[in-house]
Amino acid sequence: MNSGYNSDFESVKGKCKELPISDQFIQELKARTAIEEVISDYVQLKKSGRSYMGLCPFHNEKTPSFSVSPENSFFHCFGCGAGGDVITFIRKIENLDYVEAVKLLAKRAGMTVPEDGRDDGMGRLKTRIYEANREAARFYHKQLYTPEGERALEYLRKRQLTEKTIIHFGLGYSPTSRFELVNHLKSKGFSGSELISANLANQSKKGYPFDRFSDRVMFPIIDLRGNVIAFGGRIMTDIKPKYLNTSDTPVFNKSRNLFALQFAKNKANGQLILVEGYMDVIALHQAGFENAVATLGTALTNEQAMLIKRYCDEVVICYDADEAGQKATQRAIGILRPTGLRVKVLTVPNGKDPDEFIKSYGEQGSTRFRMLLEKTGNDIEYAINKLRAEFNTDIVEQRVEFFNRVVPVIAGIDNTVERDVYITRLSEELNVEKSAVANLVQKNLHRKQNKLRNDAQRQAASELSAINDRMNKEKQFRLRAASAEEALLAVMLRNSDVAGKIVKNVNPELFITSFNRRIYEVLRERVKEGREIGIEDISGDFSIDEMGRITDILAVRPRENDPFAAAWEYVKVLENERERLTPEQIEQSSPEELNEYIKRLRKMKDKG
Ligand code: GTP
Ligand code: MN
Repeated sequence: MNSGYNSDFESVKGKCKELPISDQFIQELKARTAIEEVISDYVQLKKSGRSYMGLCPFHNEKTPSFSVSPENSFFHCFGCGAGGDVITFIRKIENLDYVEAVKLLAKRAGMTVPEDGRDDGMGRLKTRIYEANREAARFYHKQLYTPEGERALEYLRKRQLTEKTIIHFGLGYSPTSRFELVNHLKSKGFSGSELISANLANQSKKGYPFDRFSDRVMFPIIDLRGNVIAFGGRIMTDIKPKYLNTSDTPVFNKSRNLFALQFAKNKANGQLILVEGYMDVIALHQAGFENAVATLGTALTNEQAMLIKRYCDEVVICYDADEAGQKATQRAIGILRPTGLRVKVLTVPNGKDPDEFIKSYGEQGSTRFRMLLEKTGNDIEYAINKLRAEFNTDIVEQRVEFFNRVVPVIAGIDNTVERDVYITRLSEELNVEKSAVANLVQKNLHRKQNKLRNDAQRQAASELSAINDRMNKEKQFRLRAASAEEALLAVMLRNSDVAGKIVKNVNPELFITSFNRRIYEVLRERVKEGREIGIEDISGDFSIDEMGRITDILAVRPRENDPFAAAWEYVKVLENERERLTPEQIEQSSPEELNEYIKRLRKMKDKG
């Protein structure tokens, strides 16, 4: 898109690796932090032997494959391969970088991160973007009370928002000129490239920044920690696009956040209402339904569903009644249900959206919406009603068709008691033997389960291999070598005394796959500097995905009884493997070289 944004973003990305926080501090933090306690803020954990199990927060699953080991201080998901130490967990679930995650955990443990002025580049840029956004929100809000902004204030009042609501949501107005925000923020010390990184400004062809939002009503988007992370801007006329949103930035990802969740999470009380628009959320909150949230101008994502799951166990989908809204409802059910959430669907009558509905009843709006909410059926009733409306069940053919279409819906219910209720109802409605209905449902269920099992297996397999491939592409060609490398790394990570011996004797060249060689080099470097190499200690040196792979390496291996002996075994395997040629190398070798090679292999075999 625009080069200013990219170049700034990329240049700090490269600097991410520098470690601004001392090992000593991390050690102390580690000692004061119990991984199982931190994770149980996000996942319900059950004790199972020496570890804890729960439903993985990083992918949808119904049976727990997410384990936390207090002993080893790491978590690992056997389903999706996610894993790492407590810092990696926080990075992943809170979408933070290393330094931010350490800060969050430090706060939790009552420690202060020493500010040594060597904050990493990405962390620094993020902080600047948060600051710029906050200042921009303040600026936009103030504009409402200037002569130019009067139209916007008038617009909001016409939409029946109270003064209190406008302040509560921090609504604002972006002036027409295209320079006012940029000039204001520059006067506060922000650089052009920071504003472009924040997507508050675009870059002109000549290279100078100008305001991204112009002549729009502004809706700040705020994260769970109270940071302004983005804006939505609504035009006050019929010109398209109606809404302009902040594009993704280092602090904002539209598929991982929900509008007004920072308020709604405290009012959820077990239930969230999911609507389509910012205005719907605001109207609902004003009417007393402060548990409403909205997506950010895109269709609901899995990540958002998992986020919703963290704060409630029941979600009411309340999308527009038009065809697009109904399609979106079907899609949302398919995303929300597999998370284990109870899903209800509220259909607003007369083709209105929630905001229009509430307004149309004036004083009565709130009561009327509460009535809708109370008689809202679950997603099964919603699906059956929808089908019933499609067919005339007085006509035999249509009755049969209706029946055929309802059976899979009922078969989709997990709970047997609930399933039985619907089977009874359907048999009564259509005047069919209950056992006949039950039989058909059962058949459909088996088909579904088989398909699900196959799909799940295929997906798990492909996810695993994708992870493996991505991290260590050479592994598939050198399976034996890579396994020995991983076993050796595991022994080292678990036994620093062994690691000390190994690094003195084993050259990184012995490693055949470059990913594992890199891990070894990091460990070697650290041991030589006298630093720790536990899984928590090294998490600043690797990306989240790499950490997942490294914990994978640990998770699938039992502890060796004699780690020293085991380590030397693995080294020996590697020495042998080093001798082995790859298929390509064999192809390129001369006959003499091949003869030599075969002789070497025989000798290796004789030695055992
Ligand atoms: P009002 O028309 O002001 O009542 O807004 P609304 O919140 O009811 O919006 P609507 O139902 O039309 O759209 C729902 C949501 O989709 C909005 O809140 C936006 O997040 C998003 N959206 C709507 N129009 C656009 C658009 O033109 N561009 C983008 N990026 N998002 C849009
Ligand atoms: Mn609307």
